[in-house]
Amino acid sequence: MVCLGNICRSPLAEGILQQKAERAGLGWHVDSAGTNGYHTGEPPHHLSIKVAKENGIDISKQRSRKFTAADFDNYDIIYAMAADVLADIKQISRHQFDATKVDLFLNELYPGQDREVPDPWYGPEPGYHEVFAIIDEACSSIVKKYSNQTINE
Ligand code: 4NP
Repeated sequence: MVCLGNICRSPLAEGILQQKAERAGLGWHVDSAGTNGYHTGEPPHHLSIKVAKENGIDISKQRSRKFTAADFDNYDIIYAMAADVLADIKQISRHQFDATKVDLFLNELYPGQDREVPDPWYGPEPGYHEVFAIIDEACSSIVKKYSNQTINE
């Protein structure tokens, strides 16, 4: 799960998907990172922590890290929260960029529409609730998709 700062959107996506995957019995390791590295080592934004907690998810122990090219070796799927993030991922990973592993996160919920998760960073608390709901819905789609695949294998 990748966004710009790894403090607002992708920490929510990590926490939500990890919880849903565990509840579905999928042995996934979910992680998150940011492309700008401005907040490396910091916990998520206090409003992301608050909104997650209100929804029964503790993301307070996460720490921001910068996305690296090695993430293409370490992870099977990489989701970008927005188009600028996807462009950054390409620039950071250069020859290690693997288009088959990357997609815009919301294409799982709205296939082919290239929609973006809005960045709540600049706004007040309601934006964080909105973003939580969008990410939650998309994570449900992802878990449903891969749970069905597992059953059919
Ligand atoms: P995020 O939000 O990408 O959802 O974590 C942002 C947080 C910080 C900055 C940009 C976006 N920043 O430039 O510091």
